[in-house]
Amino acid sequence: MSQQSGIGIAFIGSGSTVPEVALDNQALSQIVETSDEWITSRTGIRQRYLSGADGSLRAIATQAAQNALEMSGVPAAELDLIILATSTSDDLFGTASQIQSDLGAVKAVAFDLTAACSGFVFGMVTAAQFIRAGTYQNVLLIGADILSRWVDWTDRRTCVLFGDGAGAVVMQACEGASDRLLGFEIRSDGSQNDCLTLAYQAEPRALINGVTVGQGTYQPIAMNGQEVYRFAIKRVPEVIEKALHRAHRTTDQVDWLLLHQANQRILDAVAQRLGIPNEKVISNMANYGNTSAASIPLALDEAVRQGRVQAGDVIAASGFGAGLTWGAAIFQWGKSAP
Ligand code: ACO
Repeated sequence: MSQQSGIGIAFIGSGSTVPEVALDNQALSQIVETSDEWITSRTGIRQRYLSGADGSLRAIATQAAQNALEMSGVPAAELDLIILATSTSDDLFGTASQIQSDLGAVKAVAFDLTAACSGFVFGMVTAAQFIRAGTYQNVLLIGADILSRWVDWTDRRTCVLFGDGAGAVVMQACEGASDRLLGFEIRSDGSQNDCLTLAYQAEPRALINGVTVGQGTYQPIAMNGQEVYRFAIKRVPEVIEKALHRAHRTTDQVDWLLLHQANQRILDAVAQRLGIPNEKVISNMANYGNTSAASIPLALDEAVRQGRVQAGDVIAASGFGAGLTWGAAIFQWGKSAP
């Protein structure tokens, strides 16, 4: 799938942020009947950051975007496209254009994209189409979510899992011979939609005789944890192998396995199935929990800034979650040739 001729894609900057307030497992055990031992051994999560009542998706997404733009050296005014992958928009009409305005990205077009925890990978593939077609040069891709808004804080099976955060990358058109997006595959299966939902529930409201509208709200996150676990450990290795095949690469050539940070046990099981050693698996969920569309760019940005991920490293990234949706992208970090 890599472009030997034509237009390629480079990944030239990353950024991330989380809200200020952390809630550790000990504190969570005062809210629901759970323990640090249960949460850590079942999920690997030790704490998560929560956006307060005044917090906005716009604010954390803009901050992550500014950090990514700074690393990339691309001025906001040079952006052509901003994609905000999120399931928790401040405004159902979309938050991306507010971020565009805050950044001063005057010539960019901006829109939201929703694919739950797969949103960042789906966004990367979407951005790639615009770049490869020659339509846009500089794209800002943000993954950001405030799932704490939609968690049932009385349900110990779900409330221990999630945290809030934002991450971003800047993607730029380059020579086809230097293409850094080596291969991808994205999938969905709505027949299993009920495994993981944040669903609108209508309350009927009669307007006049015979005319009723629904005016309700979203119900908290509901999840069948075991089904989602089974889905993830089956579908994620498959989709990574498919994307690697398209990239003409093998698992031995992967420098970093970068999965959606849902659960350490999922990361371990997927790495084992692919035969990728633990030291190549990027994991930061102990500190952040599952931040949905933000989790991949948040973990990527941390690894880049720590100097672990270096220019030219081959990254196998995979998102998976509600929809159900899943996907993988094989890409090389950075501007310079390996
Ligand atoms: N603290 C203490 N006990 C708990 C907790 C908790 N936080 N949560 C559940 N339990 C109890 C249950 O009530 C149950 O008790 P019971 O047997 O007396 O009824 C027992 O622990 C086992 O419950 P299970 O739901 O079977 O727990 P399981 O071992 O499957 O672990 C988990 C739950 C961690 C969610 C697991 O199913 C999992 O990893 N699923 C993957 C899904 C996932 O990671 N989702 C994240 C969001 S989706 C996404 O991003 C893709």
